[in-house]
Amino acid sequence: MIKLWVFYMQLAELFVSSIIHLLYGFYIFSTGVAGDLSQALSDCFYKSIMKIEVKQEMPKDRTDDLPPIVLVHGIFGFGKGRLGGLSYFAGAEKKDERVLVPDLGSLTSIYDRARELFYYLKGGQVDYGEEHSISCGHSQFGRIYEQGHYPEWDEDHPIHFVGHSAGAQVVRVLQQMLADKAFKGYENTSENWVLSITALSGAFNGTTRTYLDGMQPEDGRTLKPICLLQLCRIGVIIYDWLDISWLKTYYNFGFDHFNMSWRKIGIWGLVDCLLGNAGPFASGDWILPDLTIQGSVRLNYHLHTFPNTYYFSYATKRTRKIMGVTVPSSITGIHPLLFIRVLQMTQWRHPPDVSPPYKGYRYISINPYIYIFQPCFGKHCVVTCIQLDQSNTL
Ligand SMILES: *[C@@H]1O[C@H](CO)[C@@H](O)[C@H](O)[C@H]1NC(C)=O
Ligand SMILES: *[C@@H]1O[C@H](CO)[C@@H](O)[C@H](O)[C@H]1NC(C)=O
Ligand SMILES: *[C@@H]1O[C@H](CO)[C@@H](O)[C@H](O)[C@H]1NC(C)=O
Repeated sequence: MIKLWVFYMQLAELFVSSIIHLLYGFYIFSTGVAGDLSQALSDCFYKSIMKIEVKQEMPKDRTDDLPPIVLVHGIFGFGKGRLGGLSYFAGAEKKDERVLVPDLGSLTSIYDRARELFYYLKGGQVDYGEEHSISCGHSQFGRIYEQGHYPEWDEDHPIHFVGHSAGAQVVRVLQQMLADKAFKGYENTSENWVLSITALSGAFNGTTRTYLDGMQPEDGRTLKPICLLQLCRIGVIIYDWLDISWLKTYYNFGFDHFNMSWRKIGIWGLVDCLLGNAGPFASGDWILPDLTIQGSVRLNYHLHTFPNTYYFSYATKRTRKIMGVTVPSSITGIHPLLFIRVLQMTQWRHPPDVSPPYKGYRYISINPYIYIFQPCFGKHCVVTCIQLDQSNTL
């Protein structure tokens, strides 16, 4: 009887959280569309005036030697050109010519993102590496960047990287790849191609939010049978299978190299993906497994810090303690649609019957930098970050 009750409660919770997350996604999406429409309208309106004006744009000054700044988005993030005029980084890219905002797919794995980022900067066709693509069941070659965004990139022309959330981990993995000379045809890469790495709420040690959404705390790889991520998985597979090009230009999960379009795999391919026999969710080559604590341990195992690189990490906290209970720090600082999830995050406890993800794991030391993404309006910032309170011990 009690079991049944718990089950119903879980279903109800799932129902509420999926509705909320869907609404939130739709809200971001429509903000993008609305922004685009109003831009188009005002362009239309001002066209006649603009015509008379002499074009004042300065020629692009490529000779200045200041290194570019590359902003790397996190999970569900997007780069310049997606979601219309919406900016993930609160318009930071509009402040300077040298700021680049790559689009690395919103759910692709840290590894795939790092590969993509290299070719975005250098130019050419993304090469995910033979071994990795065979083991993960996707094409070895991906998108083609006709023109690199910083083709001169090398040891003498290094780059500043700023990563938010999972984006911070992407840059570290990329730096390791450069040090390992992991890009075919680029035998001269080194860790010194990276001048600095700045993390904004970087999820270097993973986040416990992944378990709330449905990753199994036992292994950090598989999904619970009924959870928000399962719904997300089905949604993403269908989105990619339908392959509606205008929609995909607008927002892309980044799984094109998995060939999930109906044009390529037909109806049986869809069934295969849904049953979990093919696609990113079958091989675990997507971002959620990388963001679990276990996933981060796996990634961090191969990563080094390098003496010539500057590292900065900005941790953030959006909780406080009231009478011994950790709660979100303010109601106004967090989007109302996300408030329940944030409340759940503050209450999360590592299941006592599950062995800790690594030796020496202490609940407080692993405090995740959980973040909430909020689009920005005017001068206000996009990103609200949440770190569980340090004193939120068992
Ligand atoms: C995906 O499709 C392309 C051609 O459109 C093909 O070259 C590639 O091998 C396919 N990849 C997989 C993993 O099936
Ligand atoms: C690699 O570096 C060496 C010396 O550092 C240089 O002689 C060579 O031209 C470089 N190769 C490429 C492909 O840039
Ligand atoms: C991050 O994880 C490692 C284990 O992989 C652990 O030794 C370290 O203390 C953790 N750091 C923080 C800040 O929790």
